[in-house]
Amino acid sequence: MSALFQPFTLKAITLRNRIAVPPMCQYSALDGKINEWHYNNYAGMARGGAGLVIVEATAVAPEGRITPYCAGIWSDELAQAFIPTVEAIKQQGAVPGLQIAHAGRKANAHKPWEGDDHIADDDPLAWQTIAPSALAFGGKLSKVPKEMSQADILRVQQDFVAAARRALEVGFEWLELHFAHGYLAQSFFSIHSNQRQDSYGGSYENRSRFLRETFAAVRQVWPEHLPLTIRFGVLEFDGNDEQTLSESIDLTRRLKEDGLDMLSVSIGFSTPKATIPWAPAFLGPIAQRVRQEAGIPVSSAWGFGVPDIAENAVSAEQLDVVMVGKAHLANPHWAYFAAKTLGVDRASWTLPAPYAHWLERY
Ligand SMILES: Cc1cc2nc3c(=O)[nH]c(=O)nc-3n(C[C@H](O)[C@H](O)[C@H](O)COP(=O)(O)O)c2cc1C
Repeated sequence: MSALFQPFTLKAITLRNRIAVPPMCQYSALDGKINEWHYNNYAGMARGGAGLVIVEATAVAPEGRITPYCAGIWSDELAQAFIPTVEAIKQQGAVPGLQIAHAGRKANAHKPWEGDDHIADDDPLAWQTIAPSALAFGGKLSKVPKEMSQADILRVQQDFVAAARRALEVGFEWLELHFAHGYLAQSFFSIHSNQRQDSYGGSYENRSRFLRETFAAVRQVWPEHLPLTIRFGVLEFDGNDEQTLSESIDLTRRLKEDGLDMLSVSIGFSTPKATIPWAPAFLGPIAQRVRQEAGIPVSSAWGFGVPDIAENAVSAEQLDVVMVGKAHLANPHWAYFAAKTLGVDRASWTLPAPYAHWLERY
């Protein structure tokens, strides 16, 4: 019996299997507004059979977009644009999730295929980036952000809360706060990006304050019966990993007490100097440690998109849910092919008949 194709229940939500499409930016929105491209992309992946489809990093404020073409939810009008996509995901039997985000000092970049570097200050598409400290990420992301005042911090936290409210209003059933990948929240946590002297910098207690406060504020408006998760870089691969990991696990435990339902275990990406040991499923053992020591369900990504690897991650109790990213770009029906490859009972196949009837014989 396949572990990957067992349902997974978190609060009032049940996923039909343990396969999730992780958030993947499409860099195709105009002024934050999503469109037919996004609809087709997400409807297709939901039709393919994943249990959970998390819509891409969606900015809580205009200056929080990674590129000028990233999705946003800082107004009701932008939120309304998600409705057809949310409905399509549900209609195909998947749970619609949203990742809300602020890119901090990594914002205002060119699209990955147009350089991935910061937009020059004299470009009409340039904007002022903000971060805990006036420190550039480095490498291709050389723009120096403005150090956030305490008023800026409060404003962005309120932006997260407003975004969560809107996500609920347009029908999302799973909310993920983007606290990973060197974006704003992660950059408060990381010693590589936070050199503040006030109560938001310095000690572990202070560096985690922005994350704890933002989480708690969102939990107030996101209903108890629906999953609230974070994606968080639990380590940086910068040589200081044991300390970062133990702080991350402690933070996870505290967030759990404040109502965190699940953690998507990822990488900090706070410094270009990290040496990341890329390999298929290499975060599996780290995710398992967080799962055991923090006592919370976990998911993870990076190289799990091979059926046997995904199956093993769940059966070995490393992950509760497996994020399969690029393999879904390659094949939106990845879940169906995984089921076939793993010899899963036909009753668990999720592809609709007009495709399944033919692909069974393919
Ligand atoms: C096109 C693309 C866009 C991405 N956008 C996001 C994003 O919006 N938020 C996020 O947390 N991760 C993002 N990621 C990272 C993925 O969620 C995932 O972690 C990564 O693709 C590794 O998983 P994989 O090996 O299965 O592809 C993106 C990855 C890709 C390929």
